[in-house]
Amino acid sequence: MRVRKAVLPAAGFGTRFLPASKAIPKEMMPLVDRPIIQYAVEEAVSAGIEQIIIVIASGRSAIEDHFDSDPGLERWLEERGDIELLRAVRRISEIGTIAFVHQKEQLGLGHAVLMAKELVGDEPFAVLLSDDVIVNPGGRPVTGQLIETYQAHRGSVIALQRVDRRDVSRYGVVAPRHEEGPLVEIGDLVEKPAVEDAPSDLAVLGRYVLSPKIFDVLESTPRGAGGEIQLTDAIRDLSHEQPVFGYQFSGVRHDAGTRIGWLQANIAMALESDDADELRAFVRGLDLRD
Ligand code: UTP
Repeated sequence: MRVRKAVLPAAGFGTRFLPASKAIPKEMMPLVDRPIIQYAVEEAVSAGIEQIIIVIASGRSAIEDHFDSDPGLERWLEERGDIELLRAVRRISEIGTIAFVHQKEQLGLGHAVLMAKELVGDEPFAVLLSDDVIVNPGGRPVTGQLIETYQAHRGSVIALQRVDRRDVSRYGVVAPRHEEGPLVEIGDLVEKPAVEDAPSDLAVLGRYVLSPKIFDVLESTPRGAGGEIQLTDAIRDLSHEQPVFGYQFSGVRHDAGTRIGWLQANIAMALESDDADELRAFVRGLDLRD
């Protein structure tokens, strides 16, 4: 079955980004020239996704507003003859079919995904956590890599990358049963393990292709780490019923959900943009001694 839909949860409190994320979701923080979430939407579309479902917190409309058309602004840019900016602004509302669902209470990532159950229906779907910004210049976007793996192996797929052992407790971590190239057969999964209990250094990063069976599992998943309904816990239970694979994707990932990760992502991505020369000159002029 084709993977046509993608769910982008964006209803979290973003506490690691407070106070910047008090009135706007962290997914609306800018990365170079566009909000973080726009990169994930573009990635999904370039992987062949036809419908995007964004989960937003009730009462927060910034993300919806961003992807809506803005006739007043477009007219003004047109009158000024600013065609390049006009195209950039129009492109946002024409990017694809986007639906919004509300998460009324922040009960965790698993709960946020469950909010999309009706809109996804009975078909496999992708999940993208937009604060994991993953770039693969010149290569296939990571969501595309996972969809290909899903189609080749007929099972749910989660994106994996090795992380420094000392950092494992920030992630979901897998116990691999068998590894073959980038493909990992999953023996077990644990959310935010203590460093000494972590079954490996293979961390789950924010991209998934999931069977719709995950919704049934999520409905009975109790609160886990941090008192939240964890997607990782539901995927572990799913793996007892259906095949679930890990895929060590190609690409560079930035954790734009933290201050330092967001700063690093901005610098790395600006160095690939039209601003690169000016930024390089600026950084060269800084006193970088300790
Ligand atoms: P995070 O673990 O980054 O949580 O969520 P958070 O609340 O956004 O940020 P911190 O940890 O408080 O700093 C991972 C993804 O799941 C979404 C977030 O928006 C983010 O994209 N999420 C999380 C929800 O949509 N709803 C939730 O209840 C929790």
